[in-house]
Amino acid sequence: MFRIENISSFDLPELQPYATMKRPQEHERQGIFVAEGVKVVRRLLESHFSIASVVLPEKWLDDFRPLLEARPEPITVYLAEKKFLETLVGFSMFQGVLAVAKIPPPVSLDDILSKNRKPLLLVAVDALTNAENLGALVRNCVAFGVQALIVGETSSSPFLRRAVRNSMGAIFQLPVIELAKLGLRHRFKTKPHATRLTLAECLTELRARGVRCIAAHPHTDKKILSQADFSGDCCLVFGSEGYGISAPVLEACDEAVAVPMPPTVDSLNVGAAAAVFLYEVARQRAKS
Ligand SMILES: C[S@@+](CC[C@H](N)C(=O)[O-])C[C@H]1O[C@@H](n2cnc3c(N)ncnc32)[C@H](O)[C@@H]1O
Repeated sequence: MFRIENISSFDLPELQPYATMKRPQEHERQGIFVAEGVKVVRRLLESHFSIASVVLPEKWLDDFRPLLEARPEPITVYLAEKKFLETLVGFSMFQGVLAVAKIPPPVSLDDILSKNRKPLLLVAVDALTNAENLGALVRNCVAFGVQALIVGETSSSPFLRRAVRNSMGAIFQLPVIELAKLGLRHRFKTKPHATRLTLAECLTELRARGVRCIAAHPHTDKKILSQADFSGDCCLVFGSEGYGISAPVLEACDEAVAVPMPPTVDSLNVGAAAAVFLYEVARQRAKS
């Protein structure tokens, strides 16, 4: 169900999310996100996410019409030429196709642990702040069958526009637990009265429930990737671009594992490290 409106001015309050694309915290506070680009918006329209509006140049309307007609919620489609739209958003765009949708509520850890096929494969990120890297990591997670992403309390949201764009819309297929957004209704075995759980506490909880937590850590000399065992339930933990995994999070893990590198290289990009780890998990599990 959708209705079409030609944009003749930027005064409509409904257009505000597009005008504030450089202020992503405002979107987070409102519980919304912006999807950008033809492929990503198409994938959003194919998803179960709740969509408020779409903005596109008229030449794309026929392409998107079947997907828009299939949507259950009322969506406003604003028609605007790319150049005009660029004056609203404040930067130049490749295709001029955008959409605003609602960030889904965080999934519960109980559901993730009880409703997924075993062995579980989870990924957690600690203090990952670069949205592009987070998006690339999300894309890898979906490519390798990760069942949920746990976003540490000091990490960026995977629903930032650049993260959504870099995930190529894979974020619409990945259940996410953003620890910073968990409320009172989430209670845990190891911390029954918690309002907010830190990533270190969440990993402790996972371990208490039989999930092995494995830190991807370039500086360990204890174990390299090919020696690690991913056959049981596990959660792979990745760290920040600048500082890697923080000490409390590293301590909360069962073990640290490195992709071996020559001493002249500090580390891999976190998205690349995730792809290498996840490929090894898939390789080992395909054998067993
Ligand atoms: C860019 S690296 C962090 C580099 C940081 N300067 C450090 O000293 O850890 C970002 C994350 O990618 C993962 N990573 C990168 N290279 C890795 C490697 N060779 N082995 C295991 N994990 C790696 C780790 O989770 C790391 O925290």
